[in-house]
Amino acid sequence: MRLPIVAGNWKLNGSRESVRLLASEITDKSFSDVEVIVCPVALHVPDVASVVAGSSVKLGAQNAAFEEGGAFTGEVASSMLAEYGCTHVIVGHSERRSLFGDTNESCAQRHQAVLNAGLTPVFCVGESLEEREAGETLSVVTGQLDAVFEHVGNAAFDQAVIAYEPVWAIGTGKTASPDQAQEVHAAIRNMLHARSPEASDSVRILYGGSVNAGNADELFAKPDIDGGLIGGASLKSADFFAICDAAAKQYSQA
Ligand code: 13P
Repeated sequence: MRLPIVAGNWKLNGSRESVRLLASEITDKSFSDVEVIVCPVALHVPDVASVVAGSSVKLGAQNAAFEEGGAFTGEVASSMLAEYGCTHVIVGHSERRSLFGDTNESCAQRHQAVLNAGLTPVFCVGESLEEREAGETLSVVTGQLDAVFEHVGNAAFDQAVIAYEPVWAIGTGKTASPDQAQEVHAAIRNMLHARSPEASDSVRILYGGSVNAGNADELFAKPDIDGGLIGGASLKSADFFAICDAAAKQYSQA
C-alpha cells in the first residue's frame, strides 16, 4: 500500500505569528503512517522552515517559477525554495490557472523546473462544474496531464504527487462523493500506466476540495485515493489532525 500524504495548502492566509504557531502545533504532534506537508505562502517559508526543522513534517511552496532565474519579476525559483528547506511545490492549482493565467503549458514548464531543482511537484488537475456537467471531466484531466508528459516525458510523474481537485468542490463545502473521486483517481492511474507502469503503482494521488474531519474517512477508504490536499480545514490544527488520523488509519489497517 502507498503511504498516504496529507498536505495543508494554507493559501494566502496567516501572519508571521499565526503561521509559526500553527506550524508548531503541527510539529508537536507525532505522526506515523502518514506523510504530512505544510504549504505556507512563499514569504512565510523561512519562518515555517525554522519551526518544522528536525521534525517529520515536510515543507512545500504553493507555486514556483518556470525558469531558474532571470527577468521574471515577482516569481520565486524552485532552487530558492529548496535553499529554505522546501521539499515539495504545488503546481497548477486551479486558483493559479483561473486567476493568474497559468495554462497547461506553463504548468508543465513549472513542473519541469520543480523537478530540475530536485523537489517534488504536487501537480493539480481538475474540472470546472460546466466541464463536469458537459461530461468532459476525464478529457480535461487527461489534457492537463498530457501537457506535462509532452513537456517532461513519460517519467514526468515518477517523482511527483498528483492532486485531483474538482474546481467546483474547492472552498464550496461541496465535496465530490467518494465514488465520483475514486472514478477520476482510477482513470488518472490508468493514464499513468500507459506512460510509466511502475509510477502508476507508486504515485500518490491526493483528493482535494472541501475535505474535512467529517468526510475524510470515507474518501480515504477508496483504493486510489492516497490522502488529501487540504485548504480551509488545514488552518485549524484539530481539524487537520483528524484528517491526518483518517489517512493513517487506512494505512495501518491495510
Ligand atoms: P478547500 O479544502 O478549502 O476546499 O481547498 C482545497 C484546495 O484548494 C487545496 O489545494
